[in-house]
Amino acid sequence: MTAGHLQIVVCGAGPATDVTQLIATAKQRSWTAAVTATPSAIDFINTETIETMTGHPIRFTYQTSPGGRRTLPAPDALVIAPATYNSINKIALGIADNYAMTSVAELIGRQVPAVIVPFVNAALATRAPFQRAVADLRHEHVRILLGEDDGWEPHPPGSGNDRQKVFPWTAAFETAARLVHQSRAVASDQD
Ligand SMILES: Cc1cc2nc3c(=O)[nH]c(=O)nc-3n(C[C@H](O)[C@H](O)[C@H](O)COP(=O)(O)O)c2cc1C
Repeated sequence: MTAGHLQIVVCGAGPATDVTQLIATAKQRSWTAAVTATPSAIDFINTETIETMTGHPIRFTYQTSPGGRRTLPAPDALVIAPATYNSINKIALGIADNYAMTSVAELIGRQVPAVIVPFVNAALATRAPFQRAVADLRHEHVRILLGEDDGWEPHPPGSGNDRQKVFPWTAAFETAARLVHQSRAVASDQD
């Protein structure tokens, strides 16, 4: 019996290469995990390692990988990390132009507890569309790890390699697990 199933969505930014840290953390806490990648993220990740760790094919299109299974467990939580400027803006606007974005749109709509961890530099983070996107997603109860309280701030342009080393994978998992715990407590109160 697992503690839960985590759906991870990776976007095309440097920390995508380290998503194995999130998978490892989830597995240590008795969760299962599966990864969906945006088309841009494919260039950043080691597909074979991830598939071995999760036991599931990475999804990046509507097609299964050759010989892969189509059916995955229903997710208890969603973590989008690293989340790019591009994908955060698209998610907020409801744009579903690839499999990952369609899947995210649906999971948020189904009120699956969702955590977004942006990896966006400070120049992009000051843009009005990004600020509106963060506010709109928070309004939809999506938890975005961003700001002083979360200890995760946009980095100065050009410093992404250093910031990648301290990407908050553990905080991402713990935040998702906490949201799931809270939603299960509310559901059992209503029984
Ligand atoms: C080497 C490289 C590093 C990148 N790093 C970032 C990044 O840290 N944050 C970001 O928002 N976009 C970054 N980008 C740009 C995104 O990959 C680009 O906006 C892409 O369209 C994102 O697609 P996605 O949101 O579907 O994954 C990077 C691109 C490249 C080639």
